[in-house]
Amino acid sequence: MSRTPQGQRASLDKQPHEVAAMFDGVAARYDLTNTVLSFGQDRSWRRATRAALGLRPGERVLDVGAGTGVSTEELAHSGAYAVGADLSLGMLQAGKRTRPSVPLLAGDALRLPFADASFDAVTISFALRNVNDTDAALAELARVTRPGGRLVVCEFSTPVNPAFRTVYLSYLMRSLPAVARAVSSNPDAYVYLAESIRAWPGQAALAARIGAAGWGRVAWRNLTGGVVALHRAVRN
Ligand SMILES: C[S@@+](CC[C@H](N)C(=O)[O-])C[C@H]1O[C@@H](n2cnc3c(N)ncnc32)[C@H](O)[C@@H]1O
Repeated sequence: MSRTPQGQRASLDKQPHEVAAMFDGVAARYDLTNTVLSFGQDRSWRRATRAALGLRPGERVLDVGAGTGVSTEELAHSGAYAVGADLSLGMLQAGKRTRPSVPLLAGDALRLPFADASFDAVTISFALRNVNDTDAALAELARVTRPGGRLVVCEFSTPVNPAFRTVYLSYLMRSLPAVARAVSSNPDAYVYLAESIRAWPGQAALAARIGAAGWGRVAWRNLTGGVVALHRAVRN
């Protein structure tokens, strides 16, 4: 796969330093770009993620791949204690500036800096696709969750209606990179976004992988016709 002169576009096999550098490059305008490219849908996807986690006041929830903390902030509205972890210092620094009250720390999804069974719930929004070992990340999420604790994965997925799927894929592969050129600080990262969404497993395949990584009662719900899927599960 081709690279920009800045080397900020990650290949689909996603070496961690390439992914971190790519997100450092989009950090400054990440929140705005997200909202523009998703036609404002990102807010409702985040609210649905919080609801699916069924958080109660006083519970501890970990948001992995938290980036600027936009997903972590939403979780805190439940009254739970929400903490975010991310690999990209650029994203974390942007988050510290815009959301100083959200606890964010540096951490790799494959080696989380937390003891076993530390959390009542864990979640990962639009980030599992970026981790270079999906199955290991799902197992690491299980490690830090108490038995009976909950997982919600919020990720781009496969639209279920074939006609809508065709329109969506065309938006993804053609229009999205063009719009990103106008609004993002690193448009190439959004070419990677489109390619990585296309290569990502569908709803049933991801559910099977979650089930194989230490999670039970796996189920999913499509949002926006399957543009996004919320997979939820309970720690065995
Ligand atoms: C698309 S952003 C999602 C940010 C936020 N969760 C949201 O919903 O907008 C993906 C994030 O995953 C992070 N990431 C990728 N690989 C990671 C890893 N191995 N460990 C922790 N974070 C990772 C990136 O640095 C980036 O900030």
